[in-house]
Amino acid sequence: MANQTNSKAKALLDWVDARFPLSKMMKEHVTEYYAPKNFNFWYFFGSLAMLVLVIQIVSGIFLTMNYKPDGNLNSYNVPVAFTAVEYIMRDVSGGWIIRYMHSTGASMFFVVVYLHMFRGLIYGSFKKPRELVWVFGSLIFLVLMAEAFMGYLLPWGQMSFWGAQVIINLFAAIPVIGPDLSTWIRGDFNVSDATLNRFFALHVIALPLVLVGLVVAHLIALHEVGSNNPDGIEIKKLKDENGIPLDGIPFHPYYTVKDILGVVVFLIVFCAIMFFAPEAGGYFLEKPNFDPANPMVTPPHIAPVWYFTPFYAILRAVPSFWGTQVWGVLAMGAAVILIALLPWLDRGEVKSVRYRGPIFRTMLVLFVIAFIGLGILGALPASNLRTVVSQILSVIYFVFFLGMPFYTKLDKNKAVPERVTMSTGRQKLMFFVYTALALVGAYLFAVNI
Ligand code: HEM
Repeated sequence: MANQTNSKAKALLDWVDARFPLSKMMKEHVTEYYAPKNFNFWYFFGSLAMLVLVIQIVSGIFLTMNYKPDGNLNSYNVPVAFTAVEYIMRDVSGGWIIRYMHSTGASMFFVVVYLHMFRGLIYGSFKKPRELVWVFGSLIFLVLMAEAFMGYLLPWGQMSFWGAQVIINLFAAIPVIGPDLSTWIRGDFNVSDATLNRFFALHVIALPLVLVGLVVAHLIALHEVGSNNPDGIEIKKLKDENGIPLDGIPFHPYYTVKDILGVVVFLIVFCAIMFFAPEAGGYFLEKPNFDPANPMVTPPHIAPVWYFTPFYAILRAVPSFWGTQVWGVLAMGAAVILIALLPWLDRGEVKSVRYRGPIFRTMLVLFVIAFIGLGILGALPASNLRTVVSQILSVIYFVFFLGMPFYTKLDKNKAVPERVTMSTGRQKLMFFVYTALALVGAYLFAVNI
């Protein structure tokens, strides 16, 4: 009986393979994709980013079924879009969980993506031959920021409205074309129903399509060159007689199991936030956004959501001079663009921080302090002292990138070993530990839901 089922499944697979390269693709990208055997904690976040992308798309589809992108007032003088979100929260069956899933997912997307980018930074995963993997990643980051910004307008609360007002007004600082450009983006002279409608269209279909396309390109580029690893050693350089990298292990089952562990732990954290603290103290859902948008009343303190605050702090740190505020806008834009240019800024011979010299390590620590510090300051109301500190941290941020061509050349790196520094025995042991932890986690998850 079992033999008969097997042969039927095989016949079906053969039928598909004759028409679509299913087995070939599975081999190339999963069962015979040889990844370095020394992946660690930092390598969880790529698959987690894919998980959050799926969570956002699926929860977004269900939200769209009940949301109305209408900025006009209803008969109770409340904007329709705002009441649509309240309707989802209170009246739609299961609506509250879908909404919290989506709002928690937005912030967790940035948590995961920032950690994923940081991994690339510490292990030099942006360096040759992975420049395009990094560039596609940077484009993903840019589109993700646009996607989050446009999504934030949709609840049509006070912060949605005034946040959009502030950010779109930045474009007005661009000389000559600025004022017309900002009117064109809004579709009106003020943030209005027209703005809400176009942001809805871009948030729901245009940008997610671009995002998915970029993620596919990101992964194709990665699988073309192969993954980097915590030692920053190219495992393709040393192969056995069958052409298999000596330090490689098949992605399946080793990393599928490892990634499942990551997913289980991540979902426990995700659910804890979603069920017990969806507002995350006003960081995931800001307090003023529980009031409907009111163009006549400006909130006392307008701050973007936490994931934009490092860049917002850079914007505020730059003073206006020569009669224009465009410098802050340029600095903020440059802060994002420099990330994409890392492959060409870093001239060091060594990839991983494990073998980098003291200058890079010091600069890295300073960069982390600057980025977190700017993030904190960007969320707080401005004061003289805070502006000065933001200016110092912004300088550190830019020196980290712009000084890189010089200090990475001067640095005294350590010798890099020829083989990755994790034995196959340890990897096998970890495989069993991961499997056991994943099973325990899955069990706990199942009995608690
Ligand atoms: C939606 C967002 C993203 C998704 C779904 C995603 C997905 C992935 C996946 C699945 C991997 C392979 C597994 C791993 O190495 O962790 C990966 C690798 C990589 N990603 Fe991303 N990624 C995203 C955003 C980014 C961003 C914003 C950057 C950088 C700007 C980036 C840079 C990289 C690099 C350099 C690698 C290769 C790492 C290595 O081999 O050491 N990714 N990505």
